[in-house]
Amino acid sequence: MTGEISPGRRKLLLSAAATSILAACGGGGGSGGGGGGSSSSSSSSSSSSSGGLPNPSTAPALKTFFAGKFRIGMAVDPGITSQALTNAILLKHVNSVTAESVMKADPIGVSAGVYNYAQADALVTFAQTNGIEVRGHALLWHQTSPSWFFAGDPLDSGYRALVRSRLETYITDVVTHFRGKVYAWDVVNEVTSDDASSDYRNSQWYQIFGNDYIEYAFRAARAADPTVQLFINEYSTEDPSKRARLLSIIDAMLARGVPISGVGHQLHINTTYPAVSEVANALAAVEARSLVNHVTELDVSLYNDSSSVLAVGTPAYDAAIRAQALQYRAMYTLFAAHPSVQAVTTWGAADNHTWLSTFPIARLNHPLLFDTLGNPKPAFWAVVDPTFVP
Ligand code: XIL
Repeated sequence: MTGEISPGRRKLLLSAAATSILAACGGGGGSGGGGGGSSSSSSSSSSSSSGGLPNPSTAPALKTFFAGKFRIGMAVDPGITSQALTNAILLKHVNSVTAESVMKADPIGVSAGVYNYAQADALVTFAQTNGIEVRGHALLWHQTSPSWFFAGDPLDSGYRALVRSRLETYITDVVTHFRGKVYAWDVVNEVTSDDASSDYRNSQWYQIFGNDYIEYAFRAARAADPTVQLFINEYSTEDPSKRARLLSIIDAMLARGVPISGVGHQLHINTTYPAVSEVANALAAVEARSLVNHVTELDVSLYNDSSSVLAVGTPAYDAAIRAQALQYRAMYTLFAAHPSVQAVTTWGAADNHTWLSTFPIARLNHPLLFDTLGNPKPAFWAVVDPTFVP
């Protein structure tokens, strides 16, 4: 159990909850054009704060609820798509998937000019079979740049040209492979410094090229696919100082005519951070540059530190789950108010699989909208029903 209501108790609450949720959604099976979080009827409260949750079968499909606002995405790898629990969530709720791992340069880039697309193609096939679009993640990330990119003698006069050509060839080939199958690419991921000493992360890419590598990456991607949306993806865009450095990078690139379509906001947040106003500021800064916003990796950790550990069923856990619900509601309400937000992806589908089980430490964490059994959590209901009290 996840601290939510047991299936037995759920049954008892079924009829009252189902009735009011159906009313809230304007009927069964969808939001009835719920308008991205707007209250679609004058329905009464759908649940109580005493732990009751509506019957899962009454849950509106997120992709329908937010239709006309933004795509609903989840990050998964092919193995996850075939697990019954996750498969059902994906088929019902999403119209976008992001590869959690299989479209990164490690594993696709085996060696110079040699590619392994097996896993990535499997994800694309799953998506196409089910009418789901694919968001590409990520062409260049310092954590997953295979060492063959950098092989050679940095003191050699041809070294920079060699590494540049490996990068451009990789991006050209991969973007070409997925042309027409991917609607957006995170071209560069996490290129911004975490401290004020520089705008740029001091990655191997930066050490070799200065900021030119960002331009090379975007131009190669655009040349390979004239219509795919090209993103710069970053974490902590809600943090004013980190955001200022990212914007400085973006402005430098835009001034050079680098074809950036939008900014990906990872939004790995928690129950108490950040203030909604700072996320709003991040969205507005992107809008001011006439770029698109994507929320690319949303999850709401139950922890606001790197050391606490909660146990399911404790009052502290239940309080965190309630706070999480309110945080999710605040975020989706904000996204729905910004037409610039064209996709909102959670970094995972359900709490049975999340990278936060091991990062920053190994511990229980339940950061998503669906619980470990695949049922909608208070966070889900808070997002789709403005009257729901978690
Ligand atoms: C993470 C995956 O979730 C993990 O499974 C993998 O081991 C490491 O990468 N920011 C990103 C994502 O841009 O690619 C990361 O994904 C999470 C942080």
